[in-house]
Amino acid sequence: MDKEKMIEELNNQILKCTRCPLYKFKTNYVPGDGNPNSKILFIGEAPGREEDKQGKPFVGRAGQVLTENIKNILNMDRKDVYITNVVKCRPPENREPEEEEIKACSIWLEKQLEIIQPDIIVTLGHYSTKWIFDYFKLKFSSITKLRGKIFKVNKWGKNITIIPTLHPASTLYHKEWREYFDQDFKTIKEILNKDKREGILKFI
Ligand code: URA
Repeated sequence: MDKEKMIEELNNQILKCTRCPLYKFKTNYVPGDGNPNSKILFIGEAPGREEDKQGKPFVGRAGQVLTENIKNILNMDRKDVYITNVVKCRPPENREPEEEEIKACSIWLEKQLEIIQPDIIVTLGHYSTKWIFDYFKLKFSSITKLRGKIFKVNKWGKNITIIPTLHPASTLYHKEWREYFDQDFKTIKEILNKDKREGILKFI
């Protein structure tokens, strides 16, 4: 079965999820969006107000920042990458997701990873970085220490690159952090270019 079909079937399961109480407060489930065949996966924290309204990740103000960098720095469209969150339902009043909610929701991100098997994982902010570091048994310290660094793991019979960066919402509250966020996207771009060059070399 192809990845699109598998993601569609997975989304149908997510849309019925009652594994934690967050489903009672949400308007829409926000499973994920984009191209499941993409080499690159972005992971955020949890849907906000606009995401909850539209059922799509990163479509509010923070989403604008993310979409801008995907377009302007990576020269890609957001429909060319896959975007999801650790938690698929909006926590009330945009509070941070609780440990029990993350634990209950983790099954969905695990299944998304197994289907997409991305080459590059970009974690946006504390929660997704912590989640991915736990998943790959890497030592988590803090997002400010880890951001912009490159981590390599072996999974699905290939080398995977993990790049933690800041949460795009944080660049709205701390304008000076936008520069770090942009820098990290330039690092992602370099990795994409390098992969492309090595991919071409394989066929020469
Ligand atoms: N913040 C997130 O972490 N995810 C979204 O989808 C939107 C805002």
